[in-house]
Amino acid sequence: RRGRVGVLGSLNADLTVTTRTLPGPGETVVGDPLVVRPGGKSANQAVACALAGADTLMVGAVGDDAHGEMLRESLTRAGVDISGVRSAQVATGTAVITVDHRGENTIVVSAGANGTLGADDVHDAADALRAVSVLGLCLEVSDPALLAAQRLVNSAGGTTVLNVSPLREVSAELVADAQVLIVNEHELAAVVGSDPGREPADIAAALDGHGIGRAVVTLGAQGSVAVEAGLVVSVPAFPVQAIDTTGAGDAFMGTLMAAIAAEVPLGEGAALASAFAAVAVTRRGAQASYPGQPELQEFLARW
Ligand code: RIB
Ligand code: NA
Repeated sequence: RRGRVGVLGSLNADLTVTTRTLPGPGETVVGDPLVVRPGGKSANQAVACALAGADTLMVGAVGDDAHGEMLRESLTRAGVDISGVRSAQVATGTAVITVDHRGENTIVVSAGANGTLGADDVHDAADALRAVSVLGLCLEVSDPALLAAQRLVNSAGGTTVLNVSPLREVSAELVADAQVLIVNEHELAAVVGSDPGREPADIAAALDGHGIGRAVVTLGAQGSVAVEAGLVVSVPAFPVQAIDTTGAGDAFMGTLMAAIAAEVPLGEGAALASAFAAVAVTRRGAQASYPGQPELQEFLARW
């Protein structure tokens, strides 16, 4: 396992209720008992990355509360170095989640401590961040924090990976200077300004037209398309029965970063990430559903 992976960003307590159908606007539905689990896009990515075998560092903020403690524990159990996770004077971030009987979800995120993450935090963690070979970022924290981290790692010679999620207005520099982009089809359309559809060649052309040379575009049940060094690789998804897709994209991103750090080609990394995410969606929760190495190998051996 070659390089170290840094993940800078969000940690949330996922407050989840399962219901038969998701409520529409103005509607009330009855659900199962509330379950609180460790989540947050970046924390999920860090856990997946560590479970996939990479030496992983998390940089972020949690409140001085029970949710923060739960998140520290979950990261530590997976083997993530949490020396970059600081305590904030506000509550740990939360995500209010509903999951229906098909595993679909809705998520409302309330930033809490994640909202306090800024360029100062990057400054404080500068030595550790300069030493990572891969840095993972997503859009659940502020642009100043993301930009400072990306600039630092880019200039130190590391590989910066940006997950353009959850989709929002974002600094053009952040997208332009990311060395690897991870997007779903909606995020891709937003980044390139039009919807290229699902054909690998069209996706590759759209990326190329925007000067994006290294990317993975996830297409849900249709798998993903990896583009690297002019090579376009189509990666199938594993046809599993989804129980809860919360954090499946993060599982994918985390595994992929572990592969990038191990200098595995992007297409191969995406295939591994696809298997890791497939196991994750068959169980409830985000981090709580991620497989360890033995289970992942067992799953792969069955295909
Ligand atoms: O991507 C899933 C994650 O999004 C959840 O764990 C939730 O915390 C939100 O950040
Ligand atoms: Na899951």
